Amino acid sequence: MKSYEVTGSLSEPISRVHEWIQEAETDSVALPHAMNLSSVNSKGKPTSRMVLLKRISSEGLVFFTDYEGNKGKQILEFPFIALTFWWAKTNKQIRIEGKCKMVSNEENDEYFSSRPRGSQISASVSLQSQELDSYEALVEQSKSFEIEHLDKEIVRPKRWGGFMVVPESIEFWIDQKNRLHKRELYKKENSEWKRVLLSP
Ligand SMILES: Cc1cc2nc3c(=O)[nH]c(=O)nc-3n(C[C@H](O)[C@H](O)[C@H](O)COP(=O)(O)O)c2cc1C
Repeated sequence: MKSYEVTGSLSEPISRVHEWIQEAETDSVALPHAMNLSSVNSKGKPTSRMVLLKRISSEGLVFFTDYEGNKGKQILEFPFIALTFWWAKTNKQIRIEGKCKMVSNEENDEYFSSRPRGSQISASVSLQSQELDSYEALVEQSKSFEIEHLDKEIVRPKRWGGFMVVPESIEFWIDQKNRLHKRELYKKENSEWKRVLLSP
């Protein structure tokens, strides 16, 4: 199974994001599609965590989560976020800034139904970011849910779904000798990508 889907033909600079992830994958990097996501709360206080890229198109990058978890709430309140990829083996970094939008219910349902049953069960019983009385109670809840749903389709919980990050800037960073690293920044201006070089 592919780690993420590519939809449509990719144009620069998104095509380069895909190429660099593929390069890391070829270099046997574990989870090369893992990306750090930073969002802020209503007071501008930032939080970062890893998420997995699940679809890429020329429009943007899609990941899935719990809309009612901490990041989900933050993004729904303030949709501007930042993403970072870095791979030790290729020593390349990509930084993306952009605005999130919810993906369609059709895409959410389609992706949820393609997930392993264990992941569907976890998404159904886990209320992301909420405090738990005990971890064991959650495992028990998950087992009971599995028994109750034997031979039944598991319906996507409404709070679970995807966000598409629509990039406004994408920076490609390549490690070079003596820390004279190469930085190429693409900025979206009037629907066109403009490329500039930055000093390291
Ligand atoms: C490699 C890796 C990939 C992850 N992928 C996801 C993901 O795609 N979606 C998600 O909701 N959480 C993912 N997580 C868990 C998040 O990092 C985080 O713990 C969780 O989403 C709760 O974050 P929040 O409380 O800020 O919402 C991943 C964690 C790791 C280490």
